[in-house]
Amino acid sequence: MPAMVEITNAEKTYKGGFQALKGVNLEIREGEILALLGPNGAGKTTLISTICGITMPTGGTIRVGGHDVVTEFRKARALIGLVPQELTLEPFETVWSAVRFSRGLFGAAPDEAYLDDLLKRLSLFDKKHSQLQELSGGMKRRVLIAKALSHDPKVLFLDEPTAGVDVELRRDMWEIVSALKETGVTIILTTHYIEEAEAMADRIGVISDGQLLLVEETASLMARLGKKEMRISLAEPLTEVPASVSDYELTLEEDGALLIYTYDTRAERTGIARLVAALAEAGVVISDVETRQSSLEDIFVGLVRKNDKEDAA
Ligand SMILES: Nc1ncnc2c1ncn2[C@@H]1O[C@H](COP(=O)(O)OP(=O)(O)OP(=O)(O)O)[C@@H](O)[C@H]1O
Ligand SMILES: [Mg+2]
Repeated sequence: MPAMVEITNAEKTYKGGFQALKGVNLEIREGEILALLGPNGAGKTTLISTICGITMPTGGTIRVGGHDVVTEFRKARALIGLVPQELTLEPFETVWSAVRFSRGLFGAAPDEAYLDDLLKRLSLFDKKHSQLQELSGGMKRRVLIAKALSHDPKVLFLDEPTAGVDVELRRDMWEIVSALKETGVTIILTTHYIEEAEAMADRIGVISDGQLLLVEETASLMARLGKKEMRISLAEPLTEVPASVSDYELTLEEDGALLIYTYDTRAERTGIARLVAALAEAGVVISDVETRQSSLEDIFVGLVRKNDKEDAA
């Protein structure tokens, strides 16, 4: 299947000289949900804005549905729905006029049946004639999604759909997004929360300092995050890992005084009890034990270091 969004060497340098995107390469498949994860100022909104044609890339090419977002802006933009990071709605407008107007903006012919169905899918149908100021925060977010989908786009961008939203509403949003996926819409969302990316996305892209550090299937990334280390301090240093425990994932550090066991917290058994017993059996005396979980931050740091080294090379 061809890529729905193809980003090749995308760069963005803002007026004033700040480079917010430093050569991003990414392909997003039709029908997938991709989460862009990264800290404040990483370039998530900038990347979305360049794909949506809100800001011009200063280098590279971006295609949506095969259309170049600069030279074939209208064709590309017609395929895109965007829910921006900043919430903007007219207080006195009704839900209905808001979605109808958004559809009109894209030059799509009026289609009340499509819009009614959309409002039903987003549980907004009974609010069709309510003014936006009468709606709760969660409903307002749904209206923004309805507006973004009003012209039946093929790709939906959600820029931090759950920022400042309570847990219940967040789960609600996750359900809405997975229901949209069922309709075949390709979805790109940004978030600061790893658990959110895990709950919703097929793949996760990590972006930091204008660079895409990795893109990986959610399951395999989460498996890496599930790795935990048990750091076993030894009373007497060892010269090598005892043969009786050689089938464990063990490394010796600090001149043999520290034995590190890496295990998967998601595995049914961690093997810790058997390892400790086997070490005792082999006559190894343990003086202290500490465990550490590799966090997304560790992965970030590891990746950034690797990047720096490659840059220097
Ligand atoms: N219009 C602009 N002019 C100059 N610099 C900008 C502009 N917009 C964004 N930037 C800078 O580009 C960098 C990336 O900003 P961007 O909004 O893309 O980050 P983000 O990953 O979306 O962050 P957040 O998680 O806070 O939303 C930041 O350093 C920001 O200050
Ligand atoms: Mg942003």
